[in-house]
Amino acid sequence: MNIAIITGASSGMGREFALQLDSCLGKTDEIWLLARRKESMEELSSLLRTKARAISIDLTKDTELNQFEEILAIQNPRITVLVNCAGVGSHKIFTGQSREEIESMIQLNIVALTRMTMLCLPYMRKGSKMIQFSSGAAFVPQAAFAVYAASKAYVYSLSRALEQELKGRGITITAVCPGPVNTPFISNAYEDSSGFSPLKKITIAKTSCVVKKAIDDCKRGKSVSLCGFPIKLLYLSTQSVQNLILRFWKP
Ligand SMILES: NC(=O)c1ccc[n+]([C@@H]2O[C@H](COP(=O)([O-])OP(=O)(O)OC[C@H]3O[C@@H](n4cnc5c(N)ncnc54)[C@H](OP(=O)(O)O)[C@@H]3O)[C@@H](O)[C@H]2O)c1
Repeated sequence: MNIAIITGASSGMGREFALQLDSCLGKTDEIWLLARRKESMEELSSLLRTKARAISIDLTKDTELNQFEEILAIQNPRITVLVNCAGVGSHKIFTGQSREEIESMIQLNIVALTRMTMLCLPYMRKGSKMIQFSSGAAFVPQAAFAVYAASKAYVYSLSRALEQELKGRGITITAVCPGPVNTPFISNAYEDSSGFSPLKKITIAKTSCVVKKAIDDCKRGKSVSLCGFPIKLLYLSTQSVQNLILRFWKP
C-alpha cells in the first residue's frame, strides 16, 4: 500500500497540504493525517478523493509515537510522501516563557520531527519525498522568538544534511522556509498583535500559495522552498556561502 503522511493535518498548512496533494498524488492509496484533533481531520477526510485515515496522536508523547511505529510495522506501507508540518511557536522573551512552554516547543519542533523522520525512512523507497517544515526564522536568530527560531534552524540544518545522505537512495528532502503565513499559528504564537511587526504584516503570505510552491519545489527535487521576494532575499543574503560549501561537500 502506498501512503502519504502529513503531520499537523488538523489546521493551517498541514490541512492545505492534504487538500492540494489530494489532486496530484498519483499512485497513492491512502493519506494518513496526523494531529491531536481528530474531528477536524475527519471533516478534512470527507473533502478528499483519496482515502484518508485520521490518526489522533500527540507527537510530543513517546508512548504515542511508539504506537505509531507499531502501526507502521503492521501495515508495512510504502511511504511516497512524508510532510512533517506539525509545529508550534511562542513569541515571548526567553525569560518570560515557562519551562513547559519551551520544552514542549523543543519536543514537537525538534524531537518529534526527528523521530517521525527516523520512523518513516525505512518505509521510503527510490522516488519517495520528504517535506520538512522549517521557517524563514531558521536563517537569522530572532529575539523574542529565540527557541522557535533555533528549533527551525535545527530542522533546516537536519534537512540539508539528510538530503546529502539520502541522495544515493533516490529520496528527496525539501525544507520549506516561509516567512509569516496566514494560519492559526500567528494568533497562537503572538499574545497580542503589538508583537507582530508592520514588516511581518506586509509580508504575510497566503497558506495556499506557500503550500503550492512547496509541492512544486518538492516535485522538482529542490532542497529549499521559498515563497515570495522578501524571504528569497533573506535566504540569499544569509545562506549563499553555506550553499557554496554544500555544493562541494562530500560526506
Ligand atoms: N504560520 C506561519 O507564520 C509559519 C511560518 C513559518 C513556518 N511555520 C511552520 O509551519 C508549520 C505549520 O504551521 P501552521 O502555520 O499551519 O500552524 P497551525 O495552523 O497552528 O498548525 C499546527 C499544527 O500542528 C499540530 N500540532 C500542534 N501540537 C501538536 C502535538 N503535540 N501533536 C501533534 N500535532 C500537533 C496542530 O494540530 P493539533 O492541535 O490538532 O494537534 C496543527 O495541525 C509549523 O511547523 C510552523 O512552525 C509557520
